[in-house]
Amino acid sequence: MKTYAVLIALVLPLFTVPAHASPELAAKSKCMMCHDVDKKKMGPSFKEISAKYKGDKTAAATLNDSILKGAKGKWGKIPMAPQKVAPADAQKLSEWILSL
Ligand code: HEC
Repeated sequence: MKTYAVLIALVLPLFTVPAHASPELAAKSKCMMCHDVDKKKMGPSFKEISAKYKGDKTAAATLNDSILKGAKGKWGKIPMAPQKVAPADAQKLSEWILSL
């Protein structure tokens, strides 16, 4: 029984999502190789993206689509390849970017 409790204590943190999950998710998903929150790198900064889509009610869906299917010609000459993230994670990342 004691071993069981220890096992649960070890496994549980893997399933709980901390409130600051999105910056970590972005780092873990390698988004930060080409993006930064407030600096332009290979891709536009996340704050720039958020500003561009301000007031656009379909923005979350648009960004979600870009993350999952890739984007080109929206920001410049360099395209973004489709990202290997789960659709639920793409949704979280889109909402986080738009909240910046
Ligand atoms: C290899 C570099 C690279 C990586 C890795 C990358 N991006 Fe991008 N991203 C870009 C570039 C370049 C653009 C601009 C594309 C364009 O002009 O349409 C872009 C554009 C975007 C946009 C704007 C799309 C739009 O519709 O306006 C979002 C949102 C975005 N990236 C999110 C992410 C997220 C989230 C990740 C991680 C899962 C990620 N990117 C990983 C290079 C990258």
